Amino acid sequence: MSMINSNRGLSFIYRDIFPIGTAINEGMIERYGRIITDNFASITPENELKFHNIHPRKYDYQFDKADYLVDYAISNGMKIRGHTLIWHERLPDWLIYENEKRVSKELLLKSLKEHIHKVVDRYKDKIYCWDVVNEVISDDEHTLFRDTALYQIAGEEFIEKAFYYAHEAAPKSKLFLNDYNACIPSKCDKIYKLVKKLKSDGVPIHGIGLQGHYNINFPASEAIDNALKKLSELELDIQITEMDVSMYGYENRSTDIVCPSNNMIERQKIFYDRTFEVYRKYKNVISGVTLWGVADDYTWLDEFPVYGRKDWPLLFDEKLQKKPAYEAVTCWER
Ligand code: GLA
Repeated sequence: MSMINSNRGLSFIYRDIFPIGTAINEGMIERYGRIITDNFASITPENELKFHNIHPRKYDYQFDKADYLVDYAISNGMKIRGHTLIWHERLPDWLIYENEKRVSKELLLKSLKEHIHKVVDRYKDKIYCWDVVNEVISDDEHTLFRDTALYQIAGEEFIEKAFYYAHEAAPKSKLFLNDYNACIPSKCDKIYKLVKKLKSDGVPIHGIGLQGHYNINFPASEAIDNALKKLSELELDIQITEMDVSMYGYENRSTDIVCPSNNMIERQKIFYDRTFEVYRKYKNVISGVTLWGVADDYTWLDEFPVYGRKDWPLLFDEKLQKKPAYEAVTCWER
């Protein structure tokens, strides 16, 4: 057995396993500089491709920021994940309402088609995969679909239509359904059920995205393993699309942690270590692992679920130094 340990970056170490990515915005490129290019082989624009950002008004597309990130990735030889075409959050009002009334199903589908065609076509030779729909599955144990305005207007049809529209615009792109908490068996079963149905109906779906917003106590690596085992039966690509590991448990709304203790940092390291071990075990089915950010100085968890509460979920610390978790994922025995 030899220890894999190298001073070369994360994505180099994983070059024969799967591409490692990060979610970035424009400001992060300057702030992190070579940390990004040395460690990541793929980028996901953090918000710039989301509906409201790129298409805020009916006849107004704002491509500048997304173009900038896409050009940055291409000029650095990185892959680009498109995130996301349809999500119930960050939707502009004009899509759902006209003259203060909800639009008809026909009009909604027409707008979705125009949007998807325009955005996917623009990047068709650059963005290799898309999260076509994000978080469409319900957390309520009695229902399959999340009850959103989109669902109320168009029923489940908007989901399969979105895949067809994206496929028409970029037949070579890999199209994903993205969701969270697949490590919870009831949610995993629902993801499985929906993807299986889409597949058997001939819908052009090629992958399942698992977000991977974890915390140092949850989930157990067996639960991640079980989810990957079950979902690999569908014979599609699987990607981990938004991984981070909070220091706080899901239900914890306290603001107790001023600075993470050594014990927390160690537990986070162990969590990353075990989780990546499971990912490596499924390397034949996993075609990418993306972290939701780069360093602890900037994370969405500083605003969620408690606004203004600092968190430390990533592989680099606030001073942009490698954390023990970084060492764990880049150094393992085989
Ligand atoms: C969800 C979305 C992402 C991102 C994260 C956190 O998981 O899919 O686009 O917004 O929340 O910010």
